[in-house]
Amino acid sequence: MSALFEPYTLRSLTVPNRVWMSPMCQYSAEPDGPEAGVANAWHFAHYAARAAGGIGLVLLEATAVSPEGRISPGDLGLWNDHQTETLKRLTGFLKDLGAVPGLQLAHAGRKASTDAPWRGGAPLAEDRGGWRPLAPSAVPFDTDHPVPHELTAEQIAGIVRQFADAARRALTAGFEVVEVHGAHGYLIGQFLSPHSNRRTDAYGGSFENRTRFALEVVDAVREVWPDDLPLFFRISATDWLPEDGWTADDTVRFAAVLRERGVDLLDVSSGGNAPGVRIPVGPGYQVPFAARVKAETGLPTAAVGLVTEPGQAEKIVTNGEADAVLLGRELLRDPHWAHRAARELDGRPARVPEQYAWAL
Ligand code: FNR
Repeated sequence: MSALFEPYTLRSLTVPNRVWMSPMCQYSAEPDGPEAGVANAWHFAHYAARAAGGIGLVLLEATAVSPEGRISPGDLGLWNDHQTETLKRLTGFLKDLGAVPGLQLAHAGRKASTDAPWRGGAPLAEDRGGWRPLAPSAVPFDTDHPVPHELTAEQIAGIVRQFADAARRALTAGFEVVEVHGAHGYLIGQFLSPHSNRRTDAYGGSFENRTRFALEVVDAVREVWPDDLPLFFRISATDWLPEDGWTADDTVRFAAVLRERGVDLLDVSSGGNAPGVRIPVGPGYQVPFAARVKAETGLPTAAVGLVTEPGQAEKIVTNGEADAVLLGRELLRDPHWAHRAARELDGRPARVPEQYAWAL
């Protein structure tokens, strides 16, 4: 059997294969009222299709730990019981289809309060349903974004608690993996990078200080997340900035710390904290970062970014560059990519739901 379709065990959880769905915001929840941040028919259809398509781990989109932590008013949220109960029905369905349900916990920080990308993605003024974003420092993402409110130490502690509360809800909702979103220039990434973190207190300046908030979140989440279930962290391996940015060396150093703190896998992405940077985008362009983390720290990794071909994905796993691949846009094009890959690599489709299997 191909390495891609070998099961993978972290702590007590076995994921049926190494083809995973990368978190992708759908911006499709209600913006306000009782259904705000609640998964709806779109989310059920979207995630179930990939689970039926043979994906091993269906990692749900960035899900906000608080209303002001949403990227857009349409983000999923996990700050109330109704959101939790609705997601519980979704995780049950994904499990019935043989997939492991996972969820990415997020706070958008200074990149919060924007319109859906298909409406242009611009910052939303308060009179259009937006809000003033929060950030480590009063430095906007770019000239279009508002100046964020600089968080006080007390507010930082409050957000750490929100992450822990949301992780507890994720457990109640039946998720078996949670991933802390530390990438793409959202709140945790804003603290990590000297480009966005200009603080002079215990949360800014040195590497230890800039990583403090991320580690407080990880510790708080790990405390409520059961010992037998894995915790992931998504990182931007580099800001791709010529100076004053977070670097690949920082990532390797930080990965070793995350490993000690009970993070089980690093999901290695890049970029997102500064506009207009030059990124050498191409097939598997972020894989070397995942490979380096794995080789230098021993922390398991998942590779993401333009992984589109079965042979390419298989090689990433067999070469030991990463333990699994995360597919984003390719799964939007083809929810049955895992079946195609399994047919190509092993001569048969991946796990097929019984409703289809008997007929085929
Ligand atoms: C994303 N991406 C993303 N990343 C993340 O960590 N949390 C998220 O919620 C989202 N949302 C999102 C929405 C959409 C529509 C896209 C296309 C992307 C990034 C995504 O997970 C992935 O890292 C990138 O798309 C690169 O992988 P692919 O698409 O080249 O396989």
